[in-house]
Amino acid sequence: MAETQTSEVLIVGGGVIGLSIARALKKRGAGTITVVDRSTPGREASYAAAGMLAPQAEADSPDAFFRFCRESNRMYSRFAEELLDETGVDIELDDEGTLFLAFGEDDLLELSRRYEWQSGAGMRVEHLTAADTHKLEPFVSPDSLGSLFFPDDRQVENRALIKALLEFACRNGIGIVPDTEVRSVSETDVAAEAQCADGRRFEAGTLVVAAGSWTSEIEGAEPETGIPEIRPVRGQMIAFESAKRFFRKVIYSHRGYIVPRKFGRILAGSTTEDAGFEDRTTEEGIETIRENAVEISPGLANLKIAEKWSGLRPYSAAEHPFIGKVPERERTFAAVGHYRNGILLAPLTAEILSMKILDGAESEFLKIFGDGPAKAEAA
Ligand code: FAD
Ligand code: GLY
Repeated sequence: MAETQTSEVLIVGGGVIGLSIARALKKRGAGTITVVDRSTPGREASYAAAGMLAPQAEADSPDAFFRFCRESNRMYSRFAEELLDETGVDIELDDEGTLFLAFGEDDLLELSRRYEWQSGAGMRVEHLTAADTHKLEPFVSPDSLGSLFFPDDRQVENRALIKALLEFACRNGIGIVPDTEVRSVSETDVAAEAQCADGRRFEAGTLVVAAGSWTSEIEGAEPETGIPEIRPVRGQMIAFESAKRFFRKVIYSHRGYIVPRKFGRILAGSTTEDAGFEDRTTEEGIETIRENAVEISPGLANLKIAEKWSGLRPYSAAEHPFIGKVPERERTFAAVGHYRNGILLAPLTAEILSMKILDGAESEFLKIFGDGPAKAEAA
């Protein structure tokens, strides 16, 4: 007979979202927690990401999703401090801020529009001339016509974040089960269950689906259940290596971004591709990213590409994440569809979902993102 493992909470998917939820539940007093992952936990989109916490650089309007992003960004200082205390891992939260460059008249118009709505909504944003932009970042292209500076957008080392969350799990008795694919999730009157490809069965009082791009592949988590359809959107990345740190800030253009890390490592991204589950880099993708990075700073043309990789962003057909209880289920929750912002949104997603699971607490954002797009648009 197939083996059955039982826990209080079962989390399907050990990316930044599943692992952050596991931590938040444990800190709020949950008992046994198991995280099951089809491959190595933390090695999919959460590992591929650039680690930008950039609500202001990435948003187009001051809607509910933007407020959600800003609120989660605010939580990061405490999140980083606590993780350091709990695990000894520094997630390298960097407060240098983000620049958004303009290279043509259309770019300038777009920056003006963004400046108007963000400053009008009371956010910190500065419109910089080309000269002021160069004072802040001397290695930016001389062709840049000016920029917006977002002092409150920041970045973390997302691979260190994954390491910290796994270390937390290890130190706090959270069970991590790698290389185990969940095929279906369902409920009986007394428990939720996950059936795995290898025949194993997991049973729990509460089940959370946090399976990123693969969510809709799981029987019992398809769009018919009320969880929106989740599709993979590939993003390719490269990293340059240099002897010293040339840039202080994350720097965007309308075509790409560069993210300076410690010790002269500079990430550059990314593509946005519908390539199904084909998670690989392509010559064309890497060359496009390199060209866009060189547009931001021509000196990058002289640096060696030290690493290239790709990941699958979990895009939600609802155009917002789904976070909350699955309709018509008693014990099954989901936190999926974080698309381009899952690193940014991990702390707040984990907080509101853990409060809902353990205390039944509703938050403003759960009401919006638990019911899909109609409510999010109305908010
Ligand atoms: P994942 O990290 O993909 O984790 C899902 C996990 O579920 C995986 O480990 C997978 O193995 C597991 N799983 C799937 N199916 C099953 C199953 N059937 N059974 C068991 N386990 C299963 N976000 C930002 O905030 N800032 C950024 O700068 C940023 N940059 C990005 C750049 C790129 C190139 C990419 C690709 C993404 C970027 N993102 C960024 C987005 C961010 O990476 C994602 O939103 C986030 O990682 C999603 O986390 P997740 O845990 O939902 O998904
Ligand atoms: N948020 C950056 C990306 O998804 O490429």
